[in-house]
Amino acid sequence: VRAPLIIGNWKMNLDVVEAVHLTQQVAVLVRADPPEHAEVVLAPPFVDLRSVASVIAADRLDVGLGAQHANPHESGAHTGEVSVAMLRRLGVAWVLVGHSERRTHYHMDDEAVAATLRAVSAGGLRAVLCVGEDEAVREAGDHGAFVEAQLRSALAGLPVGARESVSVAYEPIWAIGTGRTAQVEQVAEMAGVIRGVLAGFEMGEARVLYGGSVSPANAAELSEGGAMDGFLVGGASLAAESFLAIVRAADGCYAAKR
Ligand code: 13P
Repeated sequence: VRAPLIIGNWKMNLDVVEAVHLTQQVAVLVRADPPEHAEVVLAPPFVDLRSVASVIAADRLDVGLGAQHANPHESGAHTGEVSVAMLRRLGVAWVLVGHSERRTHYHMDDEAVAATLRAVSAGGLRAVLCVGEDEAVREAGDHGAFVEAQLRSALAGLPVGARESVSVAYEPIWAIGTGRTAQVEQVAEMAGVIRGVLAGFEMGEARVLYGGSVSPANAAELSEGGAMDGFLVGGASLAAESFLAIVRAADGCYAAKR
């Protein structure tokens, strides 16, 4: 059983002032009642990273810093993009790779996802590879094969030594931001599919997270029955209370299982 990892993906929310405020609120709650086992990561927008890093450092907070995306190129003519080395300099330790919103709205295809995964690992950062099917794929019953193909295409070109820096997040698109959380059985089934693929890449130690309308109301149930190693949280990570409630639910379930 792996200690849970809970990542708050703030998406394109919170300007720098709001980001500092939320980080300070998270700090108060973490200090008051630190999670025993769970690893906590905040993934703010690029423009907030520096300030969030400062709050984390000033408060000596045991919270990691994540970015929501990176460009796979080292440097050069990529207007509007941010490189892995730039993120590392800011103290970023985690990068989300291939979030469905990047794939769907910003033309990030499987090839770009694989290249980004390689760049993040090569740059010494930890990658969270995001996979998940849309509603049509799920209704056709092809979700297992679809997610398996996403995983294989991303992992195939990864050097063996880089595999240990990769975690996977299963985020069914139909559950993201909809309030329609996947059922525990659906999550557990996909955990099995993903673990099967990871085993083939000798990645049995990798964490597998769930994301999609995770809330304080469903986090304990998903932690207990979903066979996942933590959560990638969107909406509920924008308030310190609900984010920490999710962290505590995952932490408590892990403590009970150990
Ligand atoms: P919600 O928790 O808002 O559904 O978002 C999930 C997500 O996409 C996290 O990366």
